[in-house]
Amino acid sequence: MAHLIAPSLLAADFAHLARDVKMVEQSEADWHHIDVMDGTFVPNISYGMPVIAAIGRHATKPLDVHLMIEQPSRYIQTFSDLNASILTVHVEACVHLHRVLSAIREAGMKAGVALNPHTPLNAIEEVLDNLDLVCIMSVNPGFGGQKFIPTTIDKVKRLDAMRQASGHPFMIEVDGGVGRSNASALVSAGADVLVAGSSVFKAENPESEVAFLKGAGTVLAQ
Ligand code: DX5
Ligand code: ZN
Repeated sequence: MAHLIAPSLLAADFAHLARDVKMVEQSEADWHHIDVMDGTFVPNISYGMPVIAAIGRHATKPLDVHLMIEQPSRYIQTFSDLNASILTVHVEACVHLHRVLSAIREAGMKAGVALNPHTPLNAIEEVLDNLDLVCIMSVNPGFGGQKFIPTTIDKVKRLDAMRQASGHPFMIEVDGGVGRSNASALVSAGADVLVAGSSVFKAENPESEVAFLKGAGTVLAQ
């Protein structure tokens, strides 16, 4: 399967949000990546429900919602009502991860788990049957525009091996500092979804940047 591109709207111009959502819609991108931050789990606060509802009014592509918040179980129904297709919670923010993942699926969404750079893969070993996506953070979450942590590539390879050994068909997403310099290596390592904020929205031509990232890895894969 060709890999997917999920532009992160955190890097969009919020004063022209409809325009930027439309760009993603017209581009070869697959999902809208939506970063929700609470100022506690991460030091930053991004945007919340009214903004996501507004994005939803201009989006037809799936909403890939990444919750960087404490106790995400409080808001599962809310994000289902906001039409999220994928709801990703942080393993570090969930005392009862199995229960949270089950509740996300019961609410009709795909269940994702994100791992901070320091979190080992074995933190999710017992729930591989309960998730649809694993998001490997390639920066410490909280801000866009940070530098990619190179050891992520090996972590993706190890997760891909874990996936094959387990037989569970979850997707592998990589989030943070993704762009031209690492996209092909990530796809070759086993990534299925590349989240890209600054590299897309700060590009001179965001749409062709999406097309470039969408084509990344195809030469290597042949
Ligand atoms: C980081 C967020 C990312 C961020 C990516 O906390 O989860 O989704 O927006 O932005 P870039 O691609 O600029 O690192
Ligand atoms: Zn994100």
